[in-house]
Amino acid sequence: MENIGFTSDGCLISKEYIKELKQNGNGDLTALVNQNYTNSNSLVFILENLGYIPASFDSRWIIDLLSYKNENVRFWAVKTIGKLETDEYLDRLYKIASEDESTKVRREAVSAVGRMREKGNIPFLKKTLLDSDPKIVCQAIRGLLIFKGDEVVDSALKELVDHENEMVRSVILKEYFPKTKIDKKTIHHTEIHQFLKNVIVNGDVRDVLKLIPEESVHLTFTSPPYYNARDYSIYPSYEAYMKFLEEVFYETYRVTKEGRFLIVNTSPIIVPRISRSHSSKRYPIPFDLHYYLVKMGWEFIDDIVWEKPEYSVKNRIGGFQQHRKPLAYKPNSVTEYLMVYRKQTDKLIDWNIHQYNDEIVNASKVADGYESTNVWKICPKSDKIHSAIFPVDLCRRVVEYYSYKGDLVFDPFGGSGTLGRTAKSLGRHFFLTEKETKYFEYMKTFQSKDNLFDNDVTKFLTLEQFKNSIL
Ligand SMILES: C[S@@+](CC[C@H](N)C(=O)[O-])C[C@H]1O[C@@H](n2cnc3c(N)ncnc32)[C@H](O)[C@@H]1O
Repeated sequence: MENIGFTSDGCLISKEYIKELKQNGNGDLTALVNQNYTNSNSLVFILENLGYIPASFDSRWIIDLLSYKNENVRFWAVKTIGKLETDEYLDRLYKIASEDESTKVRREAVSAVGRMREKGNIPFLKKTLLDSDPKIVCQAIRGLLIFKGDEVVDSALKELVDHENEMVRSVILKEYFPKTKIDKKTIHHTEIHQFLKNVIVNGDVRDVLKLIPEESVHLTFTSPPYYNARDYSIYPSYEAYMKFLEEVFYETYRVTKEGRFLIVNTSPIIVPRISRSHSSKRYPIPFDLHYYLVKMGWEFIDDIVWEKPEYSVKNRIGGFQQHRKPLAYKPNSVTEYLMVYRKQTDKLIDWNIHQYNDEIVNASKVADGYESTNVWKICPKSDKIHSAIFPVDLCRRVVEYYSYKGDLVFDPFGGSGTLGRTAKSLGRHFFLTEKETKYFEYMKTFQSKDNLFDNDVTKFLTLEQFKNSIL
């Protein structure tokens, strides 16, 4: 909100000036409004900065603005009426709520009625549940929930459980049909199973996940095999590839703790043409995978773009650079996605945070210098043995921003184990799976290079050994 505005004759009005006029009794304020009656920006500025309204306030001039032609002025006038602790203007609000041509103004009118907390408004709010704008329905629900426990209100709200809008359905489900937790003998939110602590299993992740109890993992960060773009990732078809990922992330969902995160690093890939008379095919992996993830219950939270320097990526723009012929434009792909999802829950993030004691919360606080945008500029990392490894900085940010110290961090497609080593260095535990024995063996070589995969700490297990390690 700006601190100063301009009157219609170009003079400055400040927040303080409005406050002063308000305190002087509002004859002066009415005069200011009248002077600026044709300037909607000034009127909005005045209304927006009125702040608290004393009981003695003469509000007649606000009522006039309820039929002003500019919707922002009407919106702020309704909002201001909502602050007056009086039901004098109820009929006007009802009428605005059902008849104003702006949905934003109607929504504010329903909100103002709800905030009055008057039982007498229940019939109006009930009628508003039939509105065609789901945001207005949500405002009416909010107003009615104040009377939760009242038979009439409860039965009207419960009927919305099959509402066509997902936001409406989720509010009603949370309020009236919360999932009752069957006693799954799970451990406390912050705890982890000993047999998963700092373990790397050489096996197909799908076989390994079947052995893991539900709600075991705090955070999954992974880069799945690229569809048919590398030797270790050959699938009979794109559909089969998607089904494979669906299976992995379905099981990952089951083993993830309530309300915790999955972050998937992918990018569209190109499968090269088979000859000059054919074209190459581009597969939009993050966008296709998204559909499966939300369908199985993962709630979409954020898209983070990992941006690499142009010199580090394959040059595709060469041909275009020479000929400059439209349609043959092929930009260099300098980005990958980190799609962030959360396991569905009725609970807010605060609930997850409150599971930890103050000591852990303080020790896990993210230091200055954190990334404040969703574009992360990080150089890719090359490696002689593995062709697609995570840069440590990418893992560091994910681990620091999405987990607490002592948590269990999982990578189903472990590769060279970058996530495991980074998680360990940040005071977290890791659990990795990797199908290819050569990469599993490669991970072991890090034992001598640093102590993160220290023998005492890290267990390198075959699938059979892992099975036997589970009590
Ligand atoms: C993109 S790489 C991950 C690299 C890793 N992020 C790193 O920093 O080294 C994908 C890995 O998934 C492994 N992989 C493919 N299919 C698998 C499966 N079914 N189970 C476990 N690992 C698998 C591949 O062998 C490959 O090492």
